[in-house]
Amino acid sequence: MHPKLVELEKQFNKSTLTPLFSPLLEQKKIELWIKRDDLIHPVISGNKWRKLKYILDDALTQKKHSLISMGGTYSNHLHALAFAAMHLKFKTKGFIRGERPVELNPTLEDIVNWGMELQFVSRSEYKKLRKFKEYNELPGLQKGEYWLPEGGSTELALKGVGEIVAEIGIDTDFICVPCGTATTLAGLVKSVENDSQVMGFSALKGGSFLVDEVNTLFKKKLLNKVNWTIQLDYHFGGFAKRNNELLLFIERFEKQHNIEIEPIYTGKMLYGLFDLVQQDYFKPGQTIVAIHTGGLQGSRMIL
Ligand SMILES: Cc1ncc(COP(=O)(O)O)c(C=O)c1O
Repeated sequence: MHPKLVELEKQFNKSTLTPLFSPLLEQKKIELWIKRDDLIHPVISGNKWRKLKYILDDALTQKKHSLISMGGTYSNHLHALAFAAMHLKFKTKGFIRGERPVELNPTLEDIVNWGMELQFVSRSEYKKLRKFKEYNELPGLQKGEYWLPEGGSTELALKGVGEIVAEIGIDTDFICVPCGTATTLAGLVKSVENDSQVMGFSALKGGSFLVDEVNTLFKKKLLNKVNWTIQLDYHFGGFAKRNNELLLFIERFEKQHNIEIEPIYTGKMLYGLFDLVQQDYFKPGQTIVAIHTGGLQGSRMIL
């Protein structure tokens, strides 16, 4: 890994594996652990660091000077990218979906303070940008500029995510993860070597396209992987949508386990997971590891 990245990683904390206890888990004889990727770093936390690590390494190795990417107005990806890039002395530019708001929200304010240039683009232009998947594919890219697709979803992201599996270090029946683009899920599936299942929880309504995309990706890579599923019914009405039931669950969870979670990704996954435990989806004696993917900054989102 590039020495600058090794230096940056020295500031990071360990992602621990913590057991969760509750009367329901005890009654159903389910062992549930939470992999605290949220602890890695206050800003570049969770799957953000996992996904960015080898992309940043690649950009440094290729001696690029600028990173360009895209995201929504509360993008965890751009937030983490801007912060990491500032420390690695890259210039950055972010294409932001939608019109420039009169006042920048806290996420965009952070991003600007960390030196990222913002370019607001219409929803249709944003959709077009989604087509460019490789680091050199963005039209008009200049020498020294490196493109990261939405969410940093590249082959190199899978490699970083895969490192979670080796860190888990206990026998699991299920590894659970929230899904936005399902890149994190794909990275886990690719790296799991035993017969443990990887279970994703879609944060989006109509998430069945994620199943098709992961299948297409594995077919392209000639990977015959069947050890995964995506739960599609715990989206609470759509991306970043929430209701009182979810917020109450999060409040109780945080109090009971003293772990902060957010309602966009990890909150929905854990709600779904406990619901499946309640419904006897899992067999007594099974062990589950749920990945806390961080993203707490995103919960500043006001709906
Ligand atoms: C905090 C958090 N958790 C989970 C996800 C979902 O990850 P993926 O897009 O790889 O499915 C995201 C989105 O990137 C995220 O910001």
